[in-house]
Amino acid sequence: MTQTRKAAPKGPFRATVTDNVRIGACFWRMDLRFEGDGAGAFGQFRPGQFLQIDVADVALPPVEKIPASLRDGARRKVLLRRPFSFAEVTPQGETTMAELLYCVVGPATLRMTTLARHDTVSVIGPLGNGFWVPENKRTALLVVGGMGVPPIRCLAKMLSADHPNIKTLAFVGAKTVGALPFEGDLDTTSEELGFCVPAFAKFGIPSVLATDDGSAGAQGFVTEHLAQWLDDNAEPARDEMIVYACGPEPMLTAVAKLATRRGIDCQVSMERRMACGIGLCQSCAIECRAEGSAETVYRLCCQDGPVFEAKNVVWEP
Ligand SMILES: Cc1cc2nc3c(=O)[nH]c(=O)nc-3n(C[C@H](O)[C@H](O)[C@H](O)COP(=O)(O)OP(=O)(O)OC[C@H]3O[C@@H](n4cnc5c(N)ncnc54)[C@H](O)[C@@H]3O)c2cc1C
Ligand code: FES
Repeated sequence: MTQTRKAAPKGPFRATVTDNVRIGACFWRMDLRFEGDGAGAFGQFRPGQFLQIDVADVALPPVEKIPASLRDGARRKVLLRRPFSFAEVTPQGETTMAELLYCVVGPATLRMTTLARHDTVSVIGPLGNGFWVPENKRTALLVVGGMGVPPIRCLAKMLSADHPNIKTLAFVGAKTVGALPFEGDLDTTSEELGFCVPAFAKFGIPSVLATDDGSAGAQGFVTEHLAQWLDDNAEPARDEMIVYACGPEPMLTAVAKLATRRGIDCQVSMERRMACGIGLCQSCAIECRAEGSAETVYRLCCQDGPVFEAKNVVWEP
């Protein structure tokens, strides 16, 4: 986040794993250390950007450690790199530390779990555009669904450090408490004060927590709580607000429609299957509105995104 380092081009770099631990039923945290040009490139990242990791030659865990639901697909070859957002990036002297939060869902993420301290991996990045902060914003509403946490947490850190005058509030949702990829417990004693999600509280950011089944926070969709908050808070003016969202596409659709209807700027971080991550294969197209016309055009999630202005995306009806 610091802008004082010499700019370095994005590229393939080797990163050293400094930690890789399980933090939930299927969630893991991996810490990577970059040195040399990699430290320069990743030290200049923007929240919302991502990296592509190569785990083609990484071993699978022993079969008894592979969840039964993933055993059939586990042996599939992992020819393509896989994209992951940054949950946190910290320049430290001559090195840059990056934290990834990942959910184990298939052959690549299973392999990632066997990486140990001192192992090295090849990553390409930082890729994509990342979130940006338009002028004159006074309130930022962060909306997160489940595995959408990493880029929004990263953005929360940047907003608290670089934009202390922007009042920031997080709306955090998941199907159930076990689908929240947070390390450590929720702080229920601080719930009434609005600081029950430590991942945001540590940046002084209050949060509203909601789960579909009511197993943590309020019951219901996080978007319902966002709508309620907007109804209850006429100030500041809508043009001084911005909504940033990352999560499952139905949630993004709801957030985008809500923000657009109310005239609030909204940026969404989108996901697509990515083969190359660098604009070559066209596998990650997203239908968008063409400026000044009724036509639509396809933009690349890896290169034009993954962050898009919600009003420019063609959402499912
Ligand atoms: C820009 C970007 C940032 C991401 N950041 C994170 C992150 O911080 N943490 C994290 O856990 N995951 C993240 N992902 C998703 C992650 O890349 C996939 O979960 C991973 O590639 C799965 O690889 P796999 O071989 O283990 O499973 P696969 O067998 O490749 O996939 C398992 C299942 O997940 C679905 N899936 C995989 N990738 C995607 C995708 N990109 N979009 C929609 N569905 C998908 C597949 O359809 C399949 O059902 C991100 C994806 C993108 C595009
Ligand atoms: S992933 Fe290849 S063009 Fe986007």
